[in-house]
Amino acid sequence: MDPVAQMKAKVGQVSAQLVESGMTLGLGSGSTAEYMIKDVGQRWQNGELTNLTAVCTSFQSSVLAQGFGIPQQQLNDVDRIDLGIDGADEVDSNLNLVKGGGGCQTREKLVDSRVDRLVIVVDAGKLVDQLGSSMPVPVEVVPEAYRQVAAKLRDLDGDPELRMAVRKAGPVVTDEGNLILDTRFSAIPDPEKLESTINNIPGVLENGLFLNMADEVLIGHIADDGAVSVETRTRK
Ligand code: A5P
Repeated sequence: MDPVAQMKAKVGQVSAQLVESGMTLGLGSGSTAEYMIKDVGQRWQNGELTNLTAVCTSFQSSVLAQGFGIPQQQLNDVDRIDLGIDGADEVDSNLNLVKGGGGCQTREKLVDSRVDRLVIVVDAGKLVDQLGSSMPVPVEVVPEAYRQVAAKLRDLDGDPELRMAVRKAGPVVTDEGNLILDTRFSAIPDPEKLESTINNIPGVLENGLFLNMADEVLIGHIADDGAVSVETRTRK
């Protein structure tokens, strides 16, 4: 297994141990969350966990949970979610995040903002000094407005690019049937302002800035001798 995959697998495994019987659980998306879901799924199948309900953040996580027979409910059907475990593309020193590398940021934000405790699982390569420095901010837009929204994002000094699909002609279409403008900013000095400004553009559903949401971040590290460890950071 390559080193990044080892770090992801380890944080996935450690986070899966946070799950307890009887919980309603927000299941995140992406390759790190996939490790977590598989570990939770195994604990469920061997009877170590009982009475779980999953609220999924994507088609991907729903299919994975279904494969293990974990009962699922829609967000509208639950009154509370005890624990959410999700991945991220960037994490800054305040535990603010950029998410949406997998195109699921709208449902991720809906679920992650509802959970009592949000745990983010990442490899050490996701740590950044400034949000937006290694990844563009994904902006989900309704298809009929993507050119209009792109123009508005350029007015904000962003450089939007329509995310294109792999092994399918044309753009990525999200689980909600929309398009994604991956938008690079040379700097994001005020993430709160940018998050709300983007979301106020007509035609935008949601963007990938997740601010003041993560309670804890589990970070996978790998040493020169190949030892994999997990660091926990908690929001102050
Ligand atoms: C999905 O839209 C994302 O927010 C993922 O959680 C994020 O891209 C992290 O993905 P990986 O765990 O695959 O790096």
